[in-house]
Amino acid sequence: MKDELRALTSLAGPYPPFDADAAPAEPRELFCAWLRDAITSGIREPHAMVLSTTDENGAPDARLLILKNLDARGWHFATSGNGPKGRQIAVNPYVALTFYWPALGRQVRLRATAFPAGEPERAADFRTRSASARAAALAGRQSEPLSSRRELHAAIEEQMRRIEAEPDLVAQHWQLFIAMPHEVEFWQGAEDRLHHRLLYRREKAGWRRESLWP
Ligand SMILES: Cc1cc2nc3c(=O)[nH]c(=O)nc-3n(C[C@H](O)[C@H](O)[C@H](O)COP(=O)(O)O)c2cc1C
Repeated sequence: MKDELRALTSLAGPYPPFDADAAPAEPRELFCAWLRDAITSGIREPHAMVLSTTDENGAPDARLLILKNLDARGWHFATSGNGPKGRQIAVNPYVALTFYWPALGRQVRLRATAFPAGEPERAADFRTRSASARAAALAGRQSEPLSSRRELHAAIEEQMRRIEAEPDLVAQHWQLFIAMPHEVEFWQGAEDRLHHRLLYRREKAGWRRESLWP
């Protein structure tokens, strides 16, 4: 692979300019602007993010998830609460979220504390999912060993019948988490490699901003 990897270009640009001095006081505002840029640039799944967690031994784990919402409390994501990531968050609520929008040369990293949203929000999130996504969640076995695709199809069909009979059903283990950030770093790639980094740190009085060496 080495030659193939070395032949690839990375961070070639062109990229948008970045002015750290003009950045807003709150990271959420800048994040929303960057996410909207990613959406309008046509980047596929601009709302996909890596969620990093640690297990009971402190060993890291990471996977992609979809950002479901974002408000003054934090960044929302939905998942099974009884799978690996749900159990890991229960042991250690400190998580990291990482976004990457390649066409814009932008990365955003958050270090955050995750907590479950309340019952109404959890149920509302579940009910907005497609029937097949609800059936998969109701089967409730995410990340367990699967003996055959046939077993999976049979379980989904069974859950589809349950949903038809009870359309308002909400999986007990379904969880909507909110990640409340204490650090948010914006990284803007530059063609001359003098990349921009702006770190927001939450302090008692509000957010402190500082630029970092690239
Ligand atoms: C682009 C993308 C988006 C995903 N979104 C979600 C999601 O929103 N919720 C979820 O539970 N899993 C999602 N997954 C699957 C997870 O990456 C992961 O495989 C699954 O949640 C099991 O993770 P765990 O074993 O660490 O608990 C997504 C995968 C991809 C590639």
